[in-house]
Amino acid sequence: STHAGGSNVKKERRAMNNAPIGVFDSGLGGLTVWRELYRKLPHESLIYYGDGKNCPYGDKNREEVTAYVDLAVRRLIDRGVKLIVVACNAATAMAIDHLRRNYALPLVGLEPAVKPAAMASRSGVIGILATAATLNGRLFRETSQRYADRVKILTQVGEGFVELVESNREQTPEALARVDKLLRPMLDAGADQIVLGCTHYPFLSAAMRRVIGERRVDLVNPAAAIERQAEALLRRFDLPAEPEHTPQDDFMTSADETYRQRLIAKSEQVRTMDID
Ligand code: DGL
Repeated sequence: STHAGGSNVKKERRAMNNAPIGVFDSGLGGLTVWRELYRKLPHESLIYYGDGKNCPYGDKNREEVTAYVDLAVRRLIDRGVKLIVVACNAATAMAIDHLRRNYALPLVGLEPAVKPAAMASRSGVIGILATAATLNGRLFRETSQRYADRVKILTQVGEGFVELVESNREQTPEALARVDKLLRPMLDAGADQIVLGCTHYPFLSAAMRRVIGERRVDLVNPAAAIERQAEALLRRFDLPAEPEHTPQDDFMTSADETYRQRLIAKSEQVRTMDID
């Protein structure tokens, strides 16, 4: 009967609404975005996928990265996700067009927060830290051209930053020395906004704060804006989980079980950590 049909539709819709959100990164870095989703969307189930086997992406070419990202997205779709947050600037730069062409589900991508930094700058100089893949991408080049007459934009590849975070060395003297080397020239050139254009970099924000010292400089982390965007998409597609839904969190990786356990441990750390 029509009545039964109607109630089936309703049941299916509820199953879809309570489906998980997929969060994807090359490795541990996307947990800095996951954290924001975890805190602000308490009814949503989250499945995090860290492509630990193929990390880092930053120095790989478009074909390679597109293939990795495609595989990860398929695995998340197999798990029934309703929306995917690509919590990786490099993956967005190289593969978001491919994903939008090939998959129908709502996607949120990530790019360096040039605009908010340009608007907030008092000195007229902003610094962007990101991987080579992101800085060389069309998206970033177009965005920075748009703000080039408003602010001077300095860029720096965070060489070694991803590796430091992936090996849990972000609190070491070695990390501090590396951050000092790459960040100080931008500060000396007058940058008062430092855009964290890679989701691994907020894990180094304590080291960055030490290098910044007394200077009035902001670290610009896009995680909160990405969470708002995900929330808006859920609303637009009528996909928010029901208030009585009990969320489940899960972690997946292309690497081994040891890596998966590290993702879990890091997610626990990041829930309470002050990272920006
Ligand atoms: N976390 C990624 C990003 O936001 C990149 C890390 C990598 O190079 O794999 O760009």
